[in-house]
This record gives sequence, C-alpha cells and structure tokens, in this order.
Amino acid sequence: MRIDIVTIFPEFFDVLDLSLLGKARQSGLIDLGVHNLRDSTIDRHHSVDDTPYGGGAGMVMKAEPWGAALDAILGSDAPAAAPAAQAEGGPILIFPSPAGDQFTQAMARELSLEQHLVFGCGRYEGIDQRVVDHYSQRGRVRLVSLGDYVLNGGEVAVMAMIEAIGRLIPGVVGNPASLVEESHEDGLLEYPSYTKPASWRGLEVPPVLLSGNHGAISTWRRQQQIERTERVRPDLLPRTI
Ligand SMILES: C[S@@+](CC[C@H](N)C(=O)[O-])C[C@H]1O[C@@H](n2cnc3c(N)ncnc32)[C@H](O)[C@@H]1O
Repeated sequence: MRIDIVTIFPEFFDVLDLSLLGKARQSGLIDLGVHNLRDSTIDRHHSVDDTPYGGGAGMVMKAEPWGAALDAILGSDAPAAAPAAQAEGGPILIFPSPAGDQFTQAMARELSLEQHLVFGCGRYEGIDQRVVDHYSQRGRVRLVSLGDYVLNGGEVAVMAMIEAIGRLIPGVVGNPASLVEESHEDGLLEYPSYTKPASWRGLEVPPVLLSGNHGAISTWRRQQQIERTERVRPDLLPRTI
C-alpha cells in the first residue's frame, strides 16, 4: 500500500520507522511518503494559515498550499469533476476532523484493502473548506474523526489510523490469527488474557485456562467477551447478540 501524508510537522511520523510498521516499510509492504506542507508555499515566510473570513478566533489553513501539495501527489490533470467510476479505485484522500465519520475497526479493515491512501493533517482551526469541496469533485474524499474530542492537529489521528489500518495489511502482523480474535473484530470486546506464572501476588489464572479443555476454554472466553462488553460497552451489544 502507498501512503502519503501532508503535514506541517513531518518529524511527527518518524515513529513509523519503528516496530511492525517500520518492518513493513523495510519489506516494501508499506511505501510511505511524508510531505511538508510548507514546501508547497510560495511566499517568503512559508505561511500556511490566515485569518478566518467572517471573523472569529484562530487561524485557518490556506487553500493554495494544500492545492499545490495535493496536486503534486494526486496529479493536477484530473478532470474537475471525475465520473464516479473513474474516481473508484483511485487514491482516497482522508482529512482527519472532529466533524468526520467515526473511525472504527470496520473502517480500518475497509481502508486496509486500498492501494493508495493520502492523509491531510489539519492544524489551527482546520483547512479552508474549499480544499475538501474541490478534491471531492475529483475523487474519493473522507473526513474521519478519531472520537468526540478535539486534538491540536491531525497528526495524532493519522498515526492512530495508519497503525490500525497498517496492521491489517496481509504480512504486516506475523500471525494473522492474532488479528481475528481481537476487540471490535466481531463487535465484542476481547476476553482477558493471562500468561505465566499461574499465580502472581495472590491472584490466580482462571482454572479453566489451565484445564487443556479447548471447548471449555472457548466457551469461557466467549462468556467473558459478552460480560465485558455488557459492562463496558453495552452500546455494542444489540448489533451482535
Ligand atoms: C484544533 S483542531 C480544529 C477543530 C475545528 N475547529 C472544529 O471545531 O471542528 C485542528 C485539527 O486537528 C485535527 N483533529 C482535531 N480533533 C480531531 C479528532 N477528534 N479526530 C480527527 N482529527 C482531529 C483535525 O485535523 C483538525 O483540523
């Protein structure tokens, strides 16, 4: 998968050199390009923001540098209004935004099947709306929220999305079975996990896990999933049980 990120803080993404995603980059499973938005400015001060039309607090990211940076990645010759079929299969442009669709495991799985994702990290009060409107006429654009809270910028949200999406790309996680039993994969939270020693500070591992009875273990784990989900996230249950 090709991933491009446009940001005013490229160094934020140095952590993508580490761990499983770092290995996926080395092996070519993920091809990453991080682009500094300020490189797409033409003024002496490399300014990327200006005061909002209509007044109000804060600054808004200017459309021109975003247009130049995204055209350099997506190509500037796409027709102003690409037919849906033409847009289908092309890159998906994702703007993290608290006003976007909620990012979920299902969305991560869907996006992990794509060939090319382009992320645009907003800062300040966000990006001039015309950037979203313009690229929505040219291809697939999504506004995606990490949750109902406000971050200072899109970088942390993009990091979280890339980690969740990247680990679902075949080959990135060594044992694909470990992806199947995780929280949110079947709509439930995961069961609790234990490892050696069997007794620690007076706390014992549930005896069923030491029994060797795979059927009983499987039943216990399913019950734990349901109980935990009922207790912590009852909103998830009606969709699955
Ligand atoms: C300070 S926020 C702007 C918030 C905007 N004024 C609003 O009220 O919707 C700056 C940037 O952080 C990112 N951001 C903030 N909260 C986010 C969230 N919950 N999910 C995804 N991105 C977020 C977006 O890229 C946003 O453009």
